[in-house]
Amino acid sequence: MTTMIQTAPAVIKTDSLTRSLKVEQLTCSIGAEVRNVSLAAAARDAGLAAEIRALLLAHKVLFFRDQDIERSDHVAFSRHFGELEDHPMTGSDPDHPGLIRIYKSPEAPADRYENAWHCDATWREKPPMAAVLRCVACPPVGGDTMWANMALAYEKLPAQVQEQIAELHARHSIEASFGAAMPIEKRHALHAQFPDAEHPVVRTHPETGEKVLFVNAFTTHFTDFHITRHVRYGQDMTHGGSELLRYLQSQAFIPEYQVRFRWQLNSVAMWDNRCTQHYAVMDYPPCHRRMERATIVGDAPF
Ligand code: SIN
Repeated sequence: MTTMIQTAPAVIKTDSLTRSLKVEQLTCSIGAEVRNVSLAAAARDAGLAAEIRALLLAHKVLFFRDQDIERSDHVAFSRHFGELEDHPMTGSDPDHPGLIRIYKSPEAPADRYENAWHCDATWREKPPMAAVLRCVACPPVGGDTMWANMALAYEKLPAQVQEQIAELHARHSIEASFGAAMPIEKRHALHAQFPDAEHPVVRTHPETGEKVLFVNAFTTHFTDFHITRHVRYGQDMTHGGSELLRYLQSQAFIPEYQVRFRWQLNSVAMWDNRCTQHYAVMDYPPCHRRMERATIVGDAPF
């Protein structure tokens, strides 16, 4: 069972005598804003980073305003949680490997395509455990990001669906997502470098023990749906398997599982990529939106 978190703002004392984090929950399902903290200070303070980790496990996505920090501090803060990884489709800051640039500009309209509900990089055998995203240029209006609580999405599934998906596995593909618009040779090269990964449809969060619905926009199909319990004839496999997958993927769209964040310059969001999905809304006029993301290496889902 996912435990509903409290509604009252909490104050968490850190090991510093002069500092206390202020935490305001943003919805009953997911997300909290953390105030009275500098991530540059947290970059140098393992105790403070541990407090933030505990808050991340409780709220799944944390928001911080006014973090006018150095890129080196963004990296150092994120490194408290693990190694960082680059992304094959998105360049990183040349001076700060692991800090990927998600830059949109009016000059590159072909690059406007934004997003689908997803967890980051589940096409890896070991998808990231978390990410820390900072806004370095903000559109005047629009460009929010939304997150969904996928432990809650699992908990709220009808019992017979939970039972049906308990043992299932699914394929996750960079080729079928980022590769889909590429010429065939490039697409095959991408697939050779990053073969599809197979993950349980229901994963267990390694720290909280929560069960999480773990299919998203990178998921192409179930790999072991074809057993007599599910499939009487071939029709059941094509229709039953893909309809069930689409239904599961659509659970992230349910507003009651979501939080939506309005970015400002130097706002930061940190999310637990093991139990959330996110969606960057492409509703801003042609203008700059520049985000920088540290992505923290994770474990193989089980
Ligand atoms: C991402 O998908 O990690 C980027 C989200 C955003 O740009 O808001």
